[in-house]
Amino acid sequence: MTNNTDTTDLTLVLAATGKTGRRVADRLTALGVPVRRGSRSAEIPFDWDAPATWAPALDGVTSVYLVFSPDLAVPGAPEAIRGFTDAAVAAGVRRIVLLSGRGEDEAQACERIVQDSGLEWTIVRAAWFAQNFSEDYLLDPVRGGEVVLPAGDVPEPFVDIDDLADVAVAALTEDRHAGQVYEVTGPRALTFAEAVDEIAKATGREIAYVQVPVDAYAAVLKEHGLPDDVTEFLSYLFGTILDGRNSRPQDGVQRALGREPNDFADYAHTTAATGVWNT
Ligand SMILES: NC(=O)c1ccc[n+]([C@@H]2O[C@H](COP(=O)([O-])OP(=O)(O)OC[C@H]3O[C@@H](n4cnc5c(N)ncnc54)[C@H](OP(=O)(O)O)[C@@H]3O)[C@@H](O)[C@H]2O)c1
Repeated sequence: MTNNTDTTDLTLVLAATGKTGRRVADRLTALGVPVRRGSRSAEIPFDWDAPATWAPALDGVTSVYLVFSPDLAVPGAPEAIRGFTDAAVAAGVRRIVLLSGRGEDEAQACERIVQDSGLEWTIVRAAWFAQNFSEDYLLDPVRGGEVVLPAGDVPEPFVDIDDLADVAVAALTEDRHAGQVYEVTGPRALTFAEAVDEIAKATGREIAYVQVPVDAYAAVLKEHGLPDDVTEFLSYLFGTILDGRNSRPQDGVQRALGREPNDFADYAHTTAATGVWNT
């Protein structure tokens, strides 16, 4: 294994206060790699909506963990990714690891911008995160004992983002991942109902899964005051992307790390032990 990171390298980790960025930044720090944590509230702030923040955040940086917020599939993402990669080239960045999503034409268009940037690149193309159930919008429903979603019998190979972060860190610190597209998934596809069932088993609690039509789901989100763009994006994810195109598990974790990815049941047991799902 070649590790070409030396102590003069500085890695900018975007979305460093988020689910994957925090893990990537913590792992790099533990390895002794100097990290600049990208966030709108950082000392040197980084804001996708304020391009003037990009060059200061990139100053002195050699590698970037590139996470676009909220998602590469939203309008304006390609322009932002192009502007950011241009700024990265101008700043002397050598390596970019892009977090992308599976089965989204818009995200794959952004991947091509990174691939054509002239920078050394790795794409980490991720399945739905298992941690959406414990660190994001599905946490409260799990705690409340009822998960209501417009997802039926289409299975998804949820990825444990501890695996995703291991892959991203390997790509940021080892030369052999340059030019690789890693589709990172779990080893097994589960329906959302089956995923909730695994969590119920791991916690010893009853958690109901209720499937609703996409339109009804969008109406409820709107009623709860979610912004239109968030409602539209979630409807797009469940109504368009979750159609079976991403159901087959892929070998990205195995190829990048030489080991199998964590199973959803392992994630559920480990997470249940933290008490996060206790009511
Ligand atoms: N969830 C999934 O299942 C899934 C699957 C595949 C890919 N993805 C991709 O994962 C990415 C999200 O990563 P995550 O889940 O690790 O993040 P997250 O937990 O959703 O946290 C959002 C992060 O984005 C940052 N952020 C929000 N608005 C920003 C802005 N205008 N400028 C700069 N930073 C901003 C926040 O930082 P501050 O608030 O501190 O600025 C925070 O660190 C998205 O690109 C999504 O497409 C998600």
